[in-house]
Amino acid sequence: MFNKEIYIKRRKKLAESINSGIILIPGNTELPMNYTDNAFHFRQDSNFLYFFGIDQPNLIGFIDTESGEEIVFGNEADMEDIIWIGMQETIAKKAEKIGIKKVLPYNDVIKYINNSKSIQRTIHFLPPYPADRKIALGKWLSISVNEIDNHVSIDLIKAVAAQREIKSAEEIEEMDSTMSNITYEMYSAAMRMANEGKTEYEIAGTMEGIALQNNVQLAYPIICSVRGEILHNHLHDNTLKKDQLLIIDAGAESKMHYATDITRTFPVNRKFTPKQKDIYEIVLAAQLYSIENIKPGIPYFDIHINTCKIIAEGLKNLGFITGNIDDIVSEGAHAMFMPHGLGHMIGLDVHDMEDLGEDNFAYDDTIKRSSQFGTAYLRLGKKLKEGYVLTVEPGIYFIPQLIKKWKAENKFTDFINYSKLEDYFDFGGVRIEDNIAVTSDGSKVIGKPIPKTVEEIENQ
Ligand code: GLY
Ligand code: MN
Ligand code: MN
Repeated sequence: MFNKEIYIKRRKKLAESINSGIILIPGNTELPMNYTDNAFHFRQDSNFLYFFGIDQPNLIGFIDTESGEEIVFGNEADMEDIIWIGMQETIAKKAEKIGIKKVLPYNDVIKYINNSKSIQRTIHFLPPYPADRKIALGKWLSISVNEIDNHVSIDLIKAVAAQREIKSAEEIEEMDSTMSNITYEMYSAAMRMANEGKTEYEIAGTMEGIALQNNVQLAYPIICSVRGEILHNHLHDNTLKKDQLLIIDAGAESKMHYATDITRTFPVNRKFTPKQKDIYEIVLAAQLYSIENIKPGIPYFDIHINTCKIIAEGLKNLGFITGNIDDIVSEGAHAMFMPHGLGHMIGLDVHDMEDLGEDNFAYDDTIKRSSQFGTAYLRLGKKLKEGYVLTVEPGIYFIPQLIKKWKAENKFTDFINYSKLEDYFDFGGVRIEDNIAVTSDGSKVIGKPIPKTVEEIENQ
């Protein structure tokens, strides 16, 4: 946990910006894997962690924005719990560490909600993502589960996002030290062992093992695949063969649950073929350009578009596409090769605050999300501010099914040289991803640098 003043300040600021009614922030519960007592690994809700910091299931955070009253609802361990899971530090003790004196039994929340309802006070809550939270909120508020999403508080979403999007020095330090000490080690081990004959699951397992040996979890399931053209491929059953490219997209989360999110692409046995090197150098140049251009006041949308132009230019130089670069990108032909956005905010969530609905905070009145294939997946469009932490992750992929579909539809035949692509159906893809903090006048790459240039990779 951070020190108590940080949580007190965060809640005070939230109450001031909402200004009327009550705020409910339910924490997560343990979800059964196959029966109730055999649960999935518990992950606390990130909004609860941000304002109430306590990392245990079955708690509800409550703020009265007018009286200033703050409560944590939760049941202290009884003898049954002590027998099965041991003596715990009490919720009351933990609440003290975040500056809250009042802890009440879990079901008392209903009394507080009913009191607020009886005098028509607004009850603000965020979009619940686990089904059991939706059901619980529906019960407490007497709203049908299917209707819950229509009652979330847009004011609360915007106020929470405005606070969480600016990372403090302590938050950036959490990510930095996790990156330097754990995610870095995960990649060093993976690069050393990625030789012909190894399996993807041995590499993924080693990487996850390093996170677990450091007493932390992964921020998201590892992507470790020689089929890198499948963007979020979570299968790890291939055996590495000579001249294949391996994409690894992985990151540990810190003890306080701040995410890291890195991608590296390298050849099996770490020796690029000329064909691989040509594509790799384009992606690397695009990624370095993006990082170089990050600074406060620049819309991330513009950096995305300019990066796509670098990718298009590189592909044009290799003969994959032809024509005017501005036209290729504005019409969306480049998206056959890079069908995703340049990056996203990162913090307590790997896609930070995605549960709040990205269009509520990642775009604004001046920059709306595009509806064009590829650019539509950009998860952050608005102007950058000091304190944002985001990913920069351009890529080039050769997706045989997409190429064949567009070719059959005669799509962008003026721009795309389909015959050249026939030789790339087994190429896979290249993505390079780093996490970047926006500073007062530019940007800073988070953590100890993980090998990225062709030379650095080949010398591993
Ligand atoms: N690891 C998921 C992503 O890069 O967005
Ligand atoms: Mn990412
Ligand atoms: Mn990633």
